[in-house]
Amino acid sequence: MLGNFSYQNATKLYFGDNSLQYLNEELPKYGKTVQLIYGGGSIKKNGLYDEVVALLKANNKVIVEDAGVMPNPTVDKLYEGVKIARDNQVDFLLAVGGGSCCDYAKAVSVSIYCDEDPWEKYYLRGEEPTCKIVPVGCVLTMSGTGSEMNGGSVITNPVSKLKIGHVFGEDVMPKFSILNPRYNFSLPKRQMVAGIYDIFSHICEQYFSGEDDNTTDYLAEALMKSVVHSSLVAIENPEDYEARSNIMWSATWALNTLLAKGKTTDWMVHMLGQSVGGFTDATHGMTLSAVSLPYYRFILPYGLSKFKRFATEVWGVREEGKTDEQIANEGLKALENWMKQLGLALTISELGATEDMIDGIAEGTFILDGGYKVLTKEDVKSILKSSL
Ligand code: NZQ
Ligand code: ZN
Repeated sequence: MLGNFSYQNATKLYFGDNSLQYLNEELPKYGKTVQLIYGGGSIKKNGLYDEVVALLKANNKVIVEDAGVMPNPTVDKLYEGVKIARDNQVDFLLAVGGGSCCDYAKAVSVSIYCDEDPWEKYYLRGEEPTCKIVPVGCVLTMSGTGSEMNGGSVITNPVSKLKIGHVFGEDVMPKFSILNPRYNFSLPKRQMVAGIYDIFSHICEQYFSGEDDNTTDYLAEALMKSVVHSSLVAIENPEDYEARSNIMWSATWALNTLLAKGKTTDWMVHMLGQSVGGFTDATHGMTLSAVSLPYYRFILPYGLSKFKRFATEVWGVREEGKTDEQIANEGLKALENWMKQLGLALTISELGATEDMIDGIAEGTFILDGGYKVLTKEDVKSILKSSL
């Protein structure tokens, strides 16, 4: 473990079947006017909306509604949320939903008192907030992004077809998050598996990088095994609380800054997937699954020893009589088999991408340099083409 780092996580978590009641402990810490942020209505169908509103009222809060946060929240929705917050001088932002609601709440929180255009400042220019930040809390209904315990916030501009993430600092991370695995039960299966693959991908992004012997990689392997194990239980029985709770907890630890400590990280699957998302508005986890195997097959020769370790440690591939390449490829084959069992998208065409989009998707793919190979734009195009 050769890197230098500091570590602290600013988010307090309440986990488990009766975690919602802890709103009674948290809400009194913040001001009177609460912007209640939620999506397209799933929380009204499953009853969570009524429970949260009752708790807000019991704590004498003035509720300002901000509904309709779409999956892959747009810049126009962000402007709308900022206006709602300003018009009502809100003191606190409570996101009740998946990663989209939580990401969006963070974007609103840094924009209310910001004079500049938030899309340009935070997403295009990647600048840090210099204004007052309105605190955020989260009641999570979909596991995957890790947004409940990180500073990540991804916003999509449908006009320029750019989907860009900004990882804000501790002061933007949720002050608290409530994680009740039971709230995941009403998720459609497609969303459940997309979230599961998002978790797995977050771990891989931080695993496939670096050469040193690093505790973080052992943690990553343990998390990957737990995700695979629980996913197979959950697709058979989505209401298996034990499996869903393990998936929820793994999602949080997959991307709450822990696994990135002391090592370089890759994130190219996310860069490719995000650009596919900018063009297709497809579900985040599916964009990742569609590009993963073509990308990993492409970089395998440059990170052979790690891919070999992935095969033996995560998938139990046996080594005897095989070359390192064979072992590493068997690991990717095992990954592919698991992805098929889950019913994940394996090509970008399944998500609506077409050959004529390849140049634009490649253009919108940010190239990072933390992985085993720094891609050229031609590499990106060839990876995307092999995912059609
Ligand atoms: O809008 P509603 O009606 O709530 O429906 C949502 C939405 O249609 C539904 N859903 C959520 N919880 C449900 C439910 N349906 C029934 N029962 C429930 N309990 O699921 C759909 C997807 O929700 P969404 O919040 O969009 O999914 P997810 O949690 O995957 O978030 C995706 C967004 O997060 C970003 C993605 O790019 C995408 O914009 N990410 C954020 C990250 C971060 N903060 O660090 C990292 C990730 O890599 C990712 O990029
Ligand atoms: Zn992700």
